[in-house]
Amino acid sequence: MSAAFIGRTVLASRPDGRYVVVQARTEDAPALEAVQRACFPSLSEDEIATARHFLSHQAHFPEGQLAVLDTATAQVVASSSDFRLRVNFAHYAHAYMKETGDNLFTTHDPDGDWLYGADIGVHPDARGQGLATLLYGARHDLIRRLNLKGHVAGAMPKGYCAVADHLPIEQYVLDVIRGERRDPVLSVQLGRGYGVWGIIPDYLDDDSCRNHGVFIVWRNPAHRPGAR
Ligand SMILES: CC(C)(COP(=O)(O)OP(=O)(O)OC[C@H]1O[C@@H](n2cnc3c(N)ncnc32)[C@H](O)[C@@H]1OP(=O)(O)O)[C@@H](O)C(=O)NCCC(=O)NCCS
Repeated sequence: MSAAFIGRTVLASRPDGRYVVVQARTEDAPALEAVQRACFPSLSEDEIATARHFLSHQAHFPEGQLAVLDTATAQVVASSSDFRLRVNFAHYAHAYMKETGDNLFTTHDPDGDWLYGADIGVHPDARGQGLATLLYGARHDLIRRLNLKGHVAGAMPKGYCAVADHLPIEQYVLDVIRGERRDPVLSVQLGRGYGVWGIIPDYLDDDSCRNHGVFIVWRNPAHRPGAR
């Protein structure tokens, strides 16, 4: 897709054209921070991505920084932030801040053969309209374009806090995988083709998931080993 929206290349668009995915730019940084703050109300302040962090992401790996614009208002309503890395699946457990270079993406490896999903957020007022689905599609397009092996991320199982007092995280995640429970985040990702690799304790500081992460993987079926 190569249509333009106020001079910006459109990477993906909802079929009705109302929302478009574009590469984030420096001038979007304050709006990206505002969306982030609306999306992560229980995340510790130390782990919130501010305008300074979004500018650093763009400096390290511009192609991986996506924003969704509402074409009716030209406002940023959602975003995703990714960088490249190598993955050791035997040692998948990691802390978010360490993996992301204190949320600055200094850990971006230009030769990394996986995309790391650091963040996705859709403003609460724009949820349930397919915007996360649009962003996942655009991220998968990037993975295919760069011939990467796939996408990994630490998902935040945000529904866990409601049952954490009587249910171990392992059982909770299993229930979500089996479709016996719906998690507001993990169920969305499983529905977009991701699988669960394992559970990460002390992933970040957020009570909604009791600090857990779930390491999720999407494999690129079009990956060509050895090709650049
Ligand atoms: C998780 C999140 C990104 C989903 O964004 P979204 O734009 O609402 O998702 P979509 O509209 O593309 O919907 C994806 C699926 O979830 C369903 N869904 C979305 N919101 C829902 C809701 N409130 N209740 C039930 N189902 C819902 C959609 O129907 C769709 O279902 P399908 O799999 O059957 O097609 C969004 O809720 C969010 O930003 N959460 C806060 C930030 C966050 O936690 N990010 C993830 C960090 S790992």
